[in-house]
Amino acid sequence: MAAKWLKDTVFYEIYPQSFRDTNGDGIGDINGIIQKLDYIKSLGCNALWINPCFDSPFKDAGYDVRDYKKVAPRYGTNEDLFHLFEAAHEKGIHVLLDLVPGHTSEEHPWFRESQKVQKNEYTDRYIWTEFCFQGAGGMPYVGGESERSACYILNFFKCQPALNYGFYHVTEPWQKSSLDPAAMATREAIKDVMRYWLSHGCDGFRVDMASSLVKNDDEKKTGTSAVWKDVRRMLELEFPDAAMVAEWSNPPLALRAGYDMDFWLNNRGSGYSTLMRDYYNHGGSIHGDRTSEDHSYFKKDAGGDINRFLDQYLDWYEDTRELGYISLLTCNHDTIRPSYNLDTTELKLAYAFLFTLPGVPFLYYGDEIGMRYLDVPTKEGGYFRTGSRTPMQWDSSANLGFSEGKASDLYLPVDSSADAPTVEAQENDPDSLLNTVRAILALRHREEDLQADAAFQVICSEAGRPMVYRRGSLLCAVNPGGSDLEAVLPAGIAGQLQGEVVFRIGNASVENGKVRAGAQSFAVLR
Ligand code: GLC
Repeated sequence: MAAKWLKDTVFYEIYPQSFRDTNGDGIGDINGIIQKLDYIKSLGCNALWINPCFDSPFKDAGYDVRDYKKVAPRYGTNEDLFHLFEAAHEKGIHVLLDLVPGHTSEEHPWFRESQKVQKNEYTDRYIWTEFCFQGAGGMPYVGGESERSACYILNFFKCQPALNYGFYHVTEPWQKSSLDPAAMATREAIKDVMRYWLSHGCDGFRVDMASSLVKNDDEKKTGTSAVWKDVRRMLELEFPDAAMVAEWSNPPLALRAGYDMDFWLNNRGSGYSTLMRDYYNHGGSIHGDRTSEDHSYFKKDAGGDINRFLDQYLDWYEDTRELGYISLLTCNHDTIRPSYNLDTTELKLAYAFLFTLPGVPFLYYGDEIGMRYLDVPTKEGGYFRTGSRTPMQWDSSANLGFSEGKASDLYLPVDSSADAPTVEAQENDPDSLLNTVRAILALRHREEDLQADAAFQVICSEAGRPMVYRRGSLLCAVNPGGSDLEAVLPAGIAGQLQGEVVFRIGNASVENGKVRAGAQSFAVLR
């Protein structure tokens, strides 16, 4: 059972480096987030996910944590973050922090201790082989960097040694079971971190690489799931309103392991990626050009098929709707922004669709104004992802309102094109992407039938027809293509409709049992 407050929640993801700088040092800060809470609220977002804001050497933009209980000085202090929790709560906004349980920075004091020859409390906090010249059974490892004559396992980049949650299938003498006291101690250490932030007002966590904890796990991730079930029991007893969203991309497993929500991220050629970004990333460059290989459903006349998304989505939706939520996102800090291949009209339709599906949606900062994916050099282990992490574009002032600092001091350059979208420029245009996002989200908050739990049923997904779906007593229709389409409604459904258009982009209506959806249109009908 997911946290009750999620029922009517829309998240806004903030990359703290790039949101708003209040002290002129060129890097975003916690006070900048506090300053912009009213803006976030005005969008219709009533919850935040803040990317890691903890002390770190920033070799992976903060996903290499050096101190889980300390805000990185470049963002402010712990008190600033406590103040953010308070200020957000006053405005009805919940705040999730980013928990990175699978690895730490190689500069974390636990790891420094673990590298020592002398046995200590942290000797088995990480996963070590028995000898410095010993491979690690196919897992990525580092040797030759420690006083201790052994190799350690990595979870992601070289700077991120894997924490030890044990092995589900133990196949080597150096592998410990997931119930070994050292593995249990790691679990407790992570619970302790969670308790620290939750008891200071945080509302839960987005969990990084949530399926990565127990090694040599089985297909159903039984070992890792047991850890999360244990964490969930702790939350139920101590923080029953806390919410957890997994970076797992397997809702049936994640939600059964005790998560409230799971993100569905790109998978090649099928599923979620086919809606908005049907192209792939390879080795730091974007592979595939925007026209010939891109069959995204929302790309006008690109030959996209909604069933490539629905085939997986409907299975998962049916399987998990009693358990929790699938979270769809406009994009995130690891992906290319959707404006890379979709124009404003296409984005409006894509967002209207995402924000009227069941579950709990996430909007990545800047996607509400169609911020561009920029061609910038890598920063802090971002590589191709860096282009989606540039400063928020607020207005036409210096640094587009992100910072009063010197342009040369900015964390990343702002979009220098003359027509760089800004909040200010879109604010007064009722037709802007920004105001369309506001209108859709306002509608979602007004109509319970569009929220996380309300019934969802696909009425029509045939090629050459609009996609038509029911949410509770409302009917939604979308046609991303360039020609007018229509769909005949089953008599039972047509009979229940009054024909009222509740919301519309482009031209769409319902008459005589038929939905007519003009070129590039979206409608919510009653
Ligand atoms: C997740 C994060 C990503 C990070 C990686 C390692 O995928 O979203 O940004 O680099 O985990 O922590």
